[in-house]
Amino acid sequence: MKAYKRYLITSALPYANGPIHIGHLAGVYVPSDIYTRYLRMKGIDVVSICGSDEHGVPITIKARQEGVTPQAIVDKYHAIIKKSFEEFGIAFDIYARTSSPVHHQTSSEFFRKLYDDGKFIERTTEQYFDPEVGQFLADRYITGTCPRCSNENAYGDQCEKCGTSLNATDLINPKSTLSGVKPILKPTKHWFLPLEQYQGFLEKWILEGHKEWKVNVYGQCKSWLDSGLQPRAVSRDLDWGVPVPVEGAEGKVLYVWFDAPIGYISATKELTPEWEKYWKSDDTRMIHFIGKDNIVFHCIIFPSMLKAEGSYILPDNVPANEFLNLEGDKISTSKNWAVWLHEYLQEFPGKQDVLRYTLAANMPETKDNDFTWRDFQARNNNELVAILGNFANRALVLTHKYFRGQVPEVGILTQYDRETLEELPKLKEAIEKNLEGFRFRDALREAMNIARLGNKYLADTEPWKLIKTEPQRVETILNISLQILANVAILANPFLPFTTQKLMAMLNLEALRWEDGGKSYILPVGHQVNQPELLFEKIEDEAIEKQLAKLAATKEQNKNSKIKTTPQKDTITYEDFSKMDIRIGTILSAEIVPKTQKLLKLEVDTGIDRRTVVSGIAECFKPEELVGKQAAFLVNLEPRKIRGVESNGMILMAQDEGGKLRLVMPNEKVNNGSEVK
Ligand code: 2FM
Ligand code: ZN
Repeated sequence: MKAYKRYLITSALPYANGPIHIGHLAGVYVPSDIYTRYLRMKGIDVVSICGSDEHGVPITIKARQEGVTPQAIVDKYHAIIKKSFEEFGIAFDIYARTSSPVHHQTSSEFFRKLYDDGKFIERTTEQYFDPEVGQFLADRYITGTCPRCSNENAYGDQCEKCGTSLNATDLINPKSTLSGVKPILKPTKHWFLPLEQYQGFLEKWILEGHKEWKVNVYGQCKSWLDSGLQPRAVSRDLDWGVPVPVEGAEGKVLYVWFDAPIGYISATKELTPEWEKYWKSDDTRMIHFIGKDNIVFHCIIFPSMLKAEGSYILPDNVPANEFLNLEGDKISTSKNWAVWLHEYLQEFPGKQDVLRYTLAANMPETKDNDFTWRDFQARNNNELVAILGNFANRALVLTHKYFRGQVPEVGILTQYDRETLEELPKLKEAIEKNLEGFRFRDALREAMNIARLGNKYLADTEPWKLIKTEPQRVETILNISLQILANVAILANPFLPFTTQKLMAMLNLEALRWEDGGKSYILPVGHQVNQPELLFEKIEDEAIEKQLAKLAATKEQNKNSKIKTTPQKDTITYEDFSKMDIRIGTILSAEIVPKTQKLLKLEVDTGIDRRTVVSGIAECFKPEELVGKQAAFLVNLEPRKIRGVESNGMILMAQDEGGKLRLVMPNEKVNNGSEVK
């Protein structure tokens, strides 16, 4: 790899239309944070950039749903997201927002430069328009069937199922999400980036130059390029966003996917006056951390924009992850099927690292993965508590017990001691290799292997059995154990920053330098260590069951909200109601009306008399099921001849949304003729 002087790490700007959930974290922010922390510990010049994506249809749709302004939505969610990232230890150097003046200016100037340089084509095309609402239907305002994968809920700009980026006119059976009506086509002028002009450059840059990219990323780029790039509109008819900075563009804003990635640039500008050093020097390595639905925008469209502008560097890697599911179902903000970060932080205070660990261990690196609360519990109890916490506790407790908390001398090393210590640089190297290849799960496993090594070493050497007879040997054993623990504190830091901070305090160490990892003499002899405190505590079944119950309630709610209840009828007076004479009667006999399939002839004791009632319920009941049952009857309905049989009244039924019928009956037996009022 080329020798780089500095790193520019970007993490996908989350839409400020909802809080952050575990899917965002596992896909983008946990990997980017691990990677950034690793680089920082190595003393590398790195800036980590993120912020809220505050424009586009996702925001205006949410505002409509909540009946507030788009500004109120972004203010609300920007604050929630920013706070939750901070509390979770996602250590961006800046968390900006695309509604900031710096961003408006930067993206506006970017567009203007491309415009002035003649990089756009101006086209009047037919776009979908909702005739009921009187609005053009940009992006998510329109849904329909994806022409590639047949997903029926693809958006006007993108199918989230297969990752394809679409034009609204590609959709089959388009529908306005505003009114539900079929949209009409209406001409409107827009600016297009002629992506086909960048096809050659992209093929060379990605297909030839970046064969090392992750298979999922490279594959998506290749399929895009193989199908041939088309011009892509970079403006929209919308009243929320960065206004298109040219004359005759009233009512038009930049497409959110045009302005959002420029947000990485404007955030860097807000962070440091030296921003150009990061964006415009060839010795900067830029890496975009994103989810798989963002691949095309970061690998094809944004690089084409950067290339068109001409003065910026391109990303060297785009390690996109796949998606995380929750308990077997796709995470969904609208269905509230998620574990929300801000709620987790409240419900599991002080347990940031448990979630960071679970998400890193389950990271959807090469395929979609599943988060389950049982796995979360097992990872905590069987790994963090039983391996890491246990090792730290044993090493420190024994040092205090036998040596007043001072790092003891090292005596003559046995073959086993040497072999154990030799593992440390190997583990460090394995972590580095995996991190540099964006294999975070493997890297984490190797980091945990250091604690496993320590546990095994203590279990094999059994210092508690030797303290009386061979105290010098115990000195060596505990020195080695403490050096292993110091290695954990250093090398697990990118993954578990809260825990390793505590470990550092317990080991009385100040600076965490990556270069010290792998060494077997981090703690000098005589160094005083502090009393151990609990690093992790067991998570009981109760806490997990509470979370599962919460999800079950969400499922139930979603199920109920799907049931469509018929709207209420017009109001009637009590007088209207009291005209109906409804009585409880007993069905004495029931038989199918000859030559029919649906009609039952019921003989009913109404308490007033015995009479015949004909009803079209034969598809829902067998005659013998009804005999002897009480039910409600409208007895003063005028008589009617049905298939030659006179019906004197009507049996009342409850009918659900599926059309199924059930008797309306008293909850206890009552006298026939009892009035229903
Ligand atoms: O998919 C999303 O959530 C987008 N808001 C990501 C934007 S990334 C960048 F380009 F800003
Ligand atoms: Zn699709």
